[in-house]
Amino acid sequence: MDHPRANWSEAIVTGLPAIDRQHKQLFDMAASFRGEGDQIRVMKTLTMLCDYANTHLQDEEEMLAAIAYPKLAEHRVLHQEFRRMLRQLLDDSRNMTLDQIADRIEDLINGWFYQHILTVDAAYVDFVKAHPKRFVA
Ligand SMILES: [Fe+2]
Ligand SMILES: [Fe+2]
Repeated sequence: MDHPRANWSEAIVTGLPAIDRQHKQLFDMAASFRGEGDQIRVMKTLTMLCDYANTHLQDEEEMLAAIAYPKLAEHRVLHQEFRRMLRQLLDDSRNMTLDQIADRIEDLINGWFYQHILTVDAAYVDFVKAHPKRFVA
């Protein structure tokens, strides 16, 4: 798995406000892992991040399903991979140090998720914007 890491930036803004808010929120949550922390707080934050990520993936899939996006099936497969990696991290985290957890989060959000938005999410933007029932939330 090789996904170069990057911080949130204008490069991954889609122009769809509800989607952009959720994407940004996940980067903000990921950034909160570095630095001081205790195991209980980190586990709580990790669980919240995983829940929020799942909500985002679900909302995105519902938006794309509602407008019959032709590449939804492929997109779902990638989201499934992300869900699996998040679950794996939650399982592994019990035996990890806080630094190791922060590192895995960065790998998932600043690595995988950033690249996903930049390429796979970016690919649906024109289709969504062109749709008469444009998704606004
Ligand atoms: Fe996506
Ligand atoms: Fe997304």
